[in-house]
Amino acid sequence: MTLPTLPTLATIDPHHLTLTGSIRSERRLSDLEGVFEDEAARCAAVERDDPVVYRVFAVERGADESGALSFGLGVLQPGRVGDEYFMTKGHLHTRREAAEVYVGMAGRGIMLLEDHRDGRCRAVAFGPNDVVYVPGHTAHRTVNVGTEPLAYLGIYPSDAGHDYAAIASGNFRQRVVRTDDAPRVVERAARVVPGGAS
Ligand code: F6R
Ligand code: ZN
Repeated sequence: MTLPTLPTLATIDPHHLTLTGSIRSERRLSDLEGVFEDEAARCAAVERDDPVVYRVFAVERGADESGALSFGLGVLQPGRVGDEYFMTKGHLHTRREAAEVYVGMAGRGIMLLEDHRDGRCRAVAFGPNDVVYVPGHTAHRTVNVGTEPLAYLGIYPSDAGHDYAAIASGNFRQRVVRTDDAPRVVERAARVVPGGAS
């Protein structure tokens, strides 16, 4: 029998927004091509200083460890590209039926949820102490609609896998824009495919 190599206890530092024993990854604006509507504004910001948009501090068990759970602290910075708030890339789980639980830690966010089977969309506002259940078959993306970093813990089956390609080809149907100083969820305008249907 293989002994577990990961600690039983991990601790979130609420001031520095980090997680003990985790592996840190980060995405800058240059990693988020095709995510924001205003691509010219994104490119200009990449040229300027290419800020870190979010970091994930992950504690992941092997995908082959049957029944195991992994978790990650997401820390999404405040900011905007054009009229859209900073957001994560968003994904479906590779194993489509894998669900996830998000627990809000700090800041003000909106989760965009989109069922890839029937296209049903929901936008869920969340913050500290809120628990969001992300069902299987549901693409999920977090948006920071506040002025402080948005932090949340995501807990998911270790064999869930992350599929970004499905989102990259079509993007989420809903997006969150700032209008009159407040976040508003709007439908994405239909895409015009050159020489084809929109
Ligand atoms: C894990 C999960 C979160 C995200 C994090 C970053 O299944 O949903 O930990 O990984 O919010 O977002 P993505 O992965 O879309 O870049
Ligand atoms: Zn996920």
